[in-house]
Amino acid sequence: ECREANGEASLPYSDSRIAELLAYMAESSRGKPVSIAIPENDPRALAAYEEGKRYYYQRRGQLNFACATCHVQNVGKQLRSEILSPSLGHTTHWPVYRLKWGEIGNLHRRFAECHEQIRAPKPAEQSSELRHLEYFLSFMSNGIPVNGPSTRK
Ligand code: HEC
Repeated sequence: ECREANGEASLPYSDSRIAELLAYMAESSRGKPVSIAIPENDPRALAAYEEGKRYYYQRRGQLNFACATCHVQNVGKQLRSEILSPSLGHTTHWPVYRLKWGEIGNLHRRFAECHEQIRAPKPAEQSSELRHLEYFLSFMSNGIPVNGPSTRK
């Protein structure tokens, strides 16, 4: 919106320049605890949280897995070369420079990969499904300090 107001073309969320901007913002918030309050006087906020929660626990894809199947029930187990992490803290360290990507990328790109792993259709980046999922996961990380940007393989 700011770019458009200044006569520039808007950038899609997937553009690495947006990820770089998010990296700057994450860095400037480092050490501050995540503090998401669901406003009581706005039922849309609670509805978004509930939808995110439902999405997180819903099974999908050819493998019929939910996010929780891997990131709650199978935490600590190995999936090929990777050890499954708990969802707690999953949103605090973005954006991430991944060696696999060769560039910095955003959280919804990682969500997409988790959908591919279970052979499920992936919602578009910044779709309401993924935004609500991010809201739910961010609330789950309340109290954990922001520590982005970071690096993953
Ligand atoms: C088949 C198991 C599996 C399922 C189901 C799955 N993931 Fe993942 N996910 C992984 C693996 C493996 C990794 C990389 C290792 C790790 O950090 O846990 C990962 C990593 C992540 C990361 C990055 C963690 C980090 O520290 O960088 C996020 C965020 C994430 N998953 C979210 C989700 C969400 C949200 C869902 C549901 C839409 C989901 N995952 C479903 C296997 C899975």
